Amino acid sequence: RKARIAMLFDMHDEANAWFQRNLTMEAGAVAREYLTKRGMTPDVIRKFGLGYSPDDWRGLESHLKGKGRTPELGVEAGLLSQNEKGNIYDRFRGRLIFPIQNLSGRVIAFGGRIITDGEPKYLNSSDTPIYKKGDHLYGLNLARSTMTRSKRALLTEGYMDVISLHQFGYTDACGVLGTALTPEQVKRLAGFCSRVDLVFDGDGAGRKAALKSSRMILLQGVACRVVLMPQGEDVDSLLQTKGAEGFEACMEQAPDGLDFCMTTLRNEFAPREIMAWAKGFLTDLPDASLRAFYLPRIAGGLGLSEADFRRDTGVSGPPRNTPGRR
Ligand code: UTP
Ligand code: MN
Ligand code: MN
Ligand code: MN
Ligand code: MN
Repeated sequence: RKARIAMLFDMHDEANAWFQRNLTMEAGAVAREYLTKRGMTPDVIRKFGLGYSPDDWRGLESHLKGKGRTPELGVEAGLLSQNEKGNIYDRFRGRLIFPIQNLSGRVIAFGGRIITDGEPKYLNSSDTPIYKKGDHLYGLNLARSTMTRSKRALLTEGYMDVISLHQFGYTDACGVLGTALTPEQVKRLAGFCSRVDLVFDGDGAGRKAALKSSRMILLQGVACRVVLMPQGEDVDSLLQTKGAEGFEACMEQAPDGLDFCMTTLRNEFAPREIMAWAKGFLTDLPDASLRAFYLPRIAGGLGLSEADFRRDTGVSGPPRNTPGRR
């Protein structure tokens, strides 16, 4: 098993080197043009190790074969795909490639963005013994040292968001990888910093994700802020058009996580749903001191006295609600 894991890592290095080489070659001209159009500088392209997979069914497959890897191993590594007939072919075709690293800087998976027309816009490696979706964060290895100093993480939805933030000097940025934020990811971040700032897209999906994610972060006793982008923008588009100044203006207005939740609930939910959310949140808090901290804030946010709030929800206060009850 150990040998197999080592082989999966090695295959990722081989694939990564091949993707990166393609970006510099003639076939990669279209990808280089795309990066220029999106304002990515050579520095960040190098820092994030971007690459290109040519629009070809057997490019990586042949390359790996040349390295003595069977197509089956390529499938096991999540780099090649297999159809119902058993044919094996390149998973990433005609895509800009984003290597995903673990905390030791080893490449464990790839993301790929289509650069002409086609679906889906982004494709990721499938899960493998070295990569499980929801366990990792894009760019965390490059952001961790700054996070330790700034004591915060900037957390984005997208790959390009992370890269643009680093390009503009915000090197404590990393990204969730095409899934909902998971408790594992929050634990990882909490190992480096004490606050997570959600830098999410200014659309319905971004607001919805911010509500769910901030709730989950607060439940783990980690502080959080919500830096929602203007309608129709994400932090990449904002930085590329308005620069760091535009982003700073958003940061200055960012509410803390609980305030964001309360405001969003009041704006978008019925009273009954809001009470259910509040009760669920307090019940799910893992310890009594967190409950004692949040209960008056939530009651206040709903315009209720603590006593009224307790009576309406049946949530008891800290004195009776000791950790032993859980
Ligand atoms: P967005 O749709 O906001 O894309 O998805 P984006 O990152 O702004 O992409 P650009 O700027 O058009 O290049 C946010 C993230 O959700 C995941 C990706 O990680 C993406 O960066 N995603 C999105 C997928 O996994 N698959 C998709 O088809 C789309
Ligand atoms: Mn979006
Ligand atoms: Mn974008
Ligand atoms: Mn986006
Ligand atoms: Mn507050």
